[in-house]
Amino acid sequence: MGHESELSHEGERMISAPSPEKEKSKRLAGKVAVVTGSSRGIGRAIAKALAAEGAVMAVHYCRGRDSADEVAKDFERAGNKVAVFQADCSRPEECHRLLEQVARQLGKVEILVNNAGINRDRSIRKMSAAEWDEVVHTNLNSVFHCTKAVLEPMIARGWGRIINIASIIGQTGAFGQANYAAAKAGVIAFTKSVAQELARYGITVNAICPGFVDTDMISNMPAAAKEAVKSRIPLGRFGDADEVARLVRFLCTEGDWITGAQLNINGGQFM
Ligand SMILES: NC(=O)c1ccc[n+]([C@@H]2O[C@H](COP(=O)([O-])OP(=O)(O)OC[C@H]3O[C@@H](n4cnc5c(N)ncnc54)[C@H](OP(=O)(O)O)[C@@H]3O)[C@@H](O)[C@H]2O)c1
Repeated sequence: MGHESELSHEGERMISAPSPEKEKSKRLAGKVAVVTGSSRGIGRAIAKALAAEGAVMAVHYCRGRDSADEVAKDFERAGNKVAVFQADCSRPEECHRLLEQVARQLGKVEILVNNAGINRDRSIRKMSAAEWDEVVHTNLNSVFHCTKAVLEPMIARGWGRIINIASIIGQTGAFGQANYAAAKAGVIAFTKSVAQELARYGITVNAICPGFVDTDMISNMPAAAKEAVKSRIPLGRFGDADEVARLVRFLCTEGDWITGAQLNINGGQFM
């Protein structure tokens, strides 16, 4: 079990020290990676996959401090250098503060996974402007602000990986999800534009579009609705967060000639 030493400045908490021997053979050894929303769900699985390749991990949470600490302690046990950061990514200034703190504490960010996201489902007739704004700020605007905050150091280094977790809903739309679908479609279009701008600097930018993945996000779906969705998935089941994480790991370790892609991982639900 690792120890936790609180660093008092700016809310950052360093959880562990590096283990150079273990990191040597790993493909992301020493690379600083940030996964927004890595306290649970898909983000947690992604952080785990990158940490397993030796990345220096910035674990990020908004409200789930305890689960973020738990994630970080797992990495610490495995010998990773890791620190935990809090930020509400729906707020531009917090996105910038988050990435500044990571750079100051762990080093310049080379891998950014924009994963943090929420849903506030309601039909358009009932959806409030606040529900629209909250989803667009958290799921789309945060991607812009976090990307902006890591860009210049990545350009200076001539290498970077930016991976945006979009959604099948951004490709197909869905009843009751106008806010979520619009934000995720925006993420896909943002990805394609920024990929064109940044390729010359050795930075790839890709979007992953998962179908239904078993996490807290879909835990409130009524059982009948879940069965109805499953019946439309050719591979007959929901996805697992680790399956999405493996795709992110592939993009970071072997995806050198992939940029501007929207990668479907959805059991065949949308082709
Ligand atoms: N699950 C699916 O079926 C599915 C399908 C397609 C795409 N996705 C996308 O995959 C991503 C992860 O989804 P998930 O299923 O893993 O969701 P989840 O289990 O609900 O986890 C959401 C994560 O986002 C963080 N978060 C929420 N609001 C935030 C905010 N304002 N600022 C910063 N972080 C915030 C949460 O942090 P705290 O817990 O610390 O607050 C948590 O770590 C999302 O972008 C989602 O849209 C999910």
